[in-house]
Amino acid sequence: MLSSNYYSCEKIFNQEKKNIFFKYWIFAGFTFEFTKNKIVKKNILGMDLVFTFDGKSHHVFLNQCPHRFAELVAEEQCDRNLITCPYHGWSFKLNGVVNNIPFNQELYKLNSNNIGLHSIALNIVGKFMFINFAKRPIPLTKQFSTKIIDELISISNCIEESHTEVKQRYFNWKLIIDNLRDPLHPLFVHKKTLMQSVKSGLPGIPKWIPTFLLNIKSLSFGGLDVEIRKPDYAKLFKDPWNCSNRYFNLHLFPNVHIASADNGSTFVVEFFEPISANQTKINISYLLTKHNLRNYKLIQFLNRLTKSSNLVYEEDFSLLEKIQSKMNNNLIMMPSNGIYERMIERFHAVYRRILK
Ligand code: FES
Ligand SMILES: [Fe+2]
Repeated sequence: MLSSNYYSCEKIFNQEKKNIFFKYWIFAGFTFEFTKNKIVKKNILGMDLVFTFDGKSHHVFLNQCPHRFAELVAEEQCDRNLITCPYHGWSFKLNGVVNNIPFNQELYKLNSNNIGLHSIALNIVGKFMFINFAKRPIPLTKQFSTKIIDELISISNCIEESHTEVKQRYFNWKLIIDNLRDPLHPLFVHKKTLMQSVKSGLPGIPKWIPTFLLNIKSLSFGGLDVEIRKPDYAKLFKDPWNCSNRYFNLHLFPNVHIASADNGSTFVVEFFEPISANQTKINISYLLTKHNLRNYKLIQFLNRLTKSSNLVYEEDFSLLEKIQSKMNNNLIMMPSNGIYERMIERFHAVYRRILK
């Protein structure tokens, strides 16, 4: 298990940024956020980014002009077929190539073919978007198995829209990742909430896998889990994803969790974005499959869904914040408490290896 300084030391956090978050594919949103000529500004892992869709393809760029680094897009989102820099008026098409450099012939004499927006690697799996900040990104298939990619495509085929909430809490991102690999805690922490819809009892014991067989791909896993009761609102959804009355639980390395606790009617995608060693931004997207809900009925449903989910989140987050307050740099080892914690141990073993 990792010692407490891994959860509190800024030096280790910077190492994580370099060797994990700026090296591997990171979740960045959904394609259905974009209609033709839509430009969306996002800040992911402290990077100011511009996402565009020209009707054919999606692109991601640094939100900085290649000329003198002025901010290109100030609005959160807008509909435009060009990005124009406010500093000296250079304009760019939504695929990043130069559209026009005012007074180029008179004052600059630049070859605009050699200039363009700073592009960030983008990979689209179904409706899920992943970005990679590395100069030479690894193939996505080195990070996710075919099974995981197929699962994401299959979910994408059912989902139509998302509603996002953002929370910022005081705990290290790995505390929530560990927590999600701890199938025993719901019996205690979520006894009055999540566990009310779960039919079965104790979780199973994950099988032992020798450390040398573990790799990055093994850290993205999951699928159908414990048996659950169907919620009363399931009838509102016309074509849910087939969960066979089970809780769906998918973990994507490094920091995404996807779950469905209502037999595939809705999904939640949780993206745990590290802000510092002891702060995490939690981006929660509620994904809806095809439904009959219109106008205020949809708002009413979403209010109910987010309210019940927030009770569960609060149970976890308030507990994790208290654990975080005990984390310091005095190198006290967190003991392994038993074989059911093997999923956490696997995560820590590979994490240590790639952090070096
Ligand atoms: S900095 Fe953008 S045009 Fe000069
Ligand atoms: Fe929990």
